[in-house]
Amino acid sequence: ALPGNEIEVEAPKLAEVSFPGFWETLRTVDPGPGPRAGSPRGPVVVTIDGPAGSGKSTTATAVAERLGYRHLDSGAIYRALTLALLEEGIPREAWGALELDRLRNIPLAIAPEGTELRIALGDRILADELRSAAVTAAVSDAARVPAVRARLLDLQREAGRAGGLVADGRDMGTVVFAHTPAKIFLTASAEERAQRRYNQLIHKGESVNLRALLTEIQARDERDMNRPVAPLKAADDALIVD
Ligand code: DC
Repeated sequence: ALPGNEIEVEAPKLAEVSFPGFWETLRTVDPGPGPRAGSPRGPVVVTIDGPAGSGKSTTATAVAERLGYRHLDSGAIYRALTLALLEEGIPREAWGALELDRLRNIPLAIAPEGTELRIALGDRILADELRSAAVTAAVSDAARVPAVRARLLDLQREAGRAGGLVADGRDMGTVVFAHTPAKIFLTASAEERAQRRYNQLIHKGESVNLRALLTEIQARDERDMNRPVAPLKAADDALIVD
């Protein structure tokens, strides 16, 4: 009932004196075993959600650095699972029918590297391969599969168990760390985000087309906002930053 607090009651039976059935009643209003998002007085989980290209990772990295927290790029976890599915040669049409047990066999893990949390697949620490065109084109198809989201939930919550984490993604504030008191939602027009991606890629020496980037961002927004599970939206208690 008080997210982030750990309260031990020494003599629970005493509640029966003034409120018979207190504990049973409390259980019915308890939001359940939600993630422990750190204590309000200690290090918390800061969530930064928003659409593709809104600057979440850049902002999250800087916020984590400023606070001395660790940074989790949850998009990288979705990308890593997508990479594994592509490498295993499972056809995209079959992803929707994947079962949780099957997905649990994929050896994904979180590997701390300084303040960054990297994603390991077996004994490979993944980096650039997560941003390949093939993974980028397929990732929202994987992210809409309920079993995929369920497979990745524990992994993400585990990373935030002790607080001291800045987590960026699409559903950090609405689902994964729904109990945390510190939520940001970054937003910008699709044109602005396409321009930003364009500048980033040009800076890296890649040849890109602004119109194609805009089309891709709009298509990804559409898929991320309209999927039935954990669609992209700002949490009611998020601070919205344009
Ligand atoms: O942030 P990104 O572009 O690396 O995310 C890749 C995809 O993963 C994005 O299209 C939606 C999905 N995703 C998600 O569904 N939930 C998250 N928390 C993070 C990413």
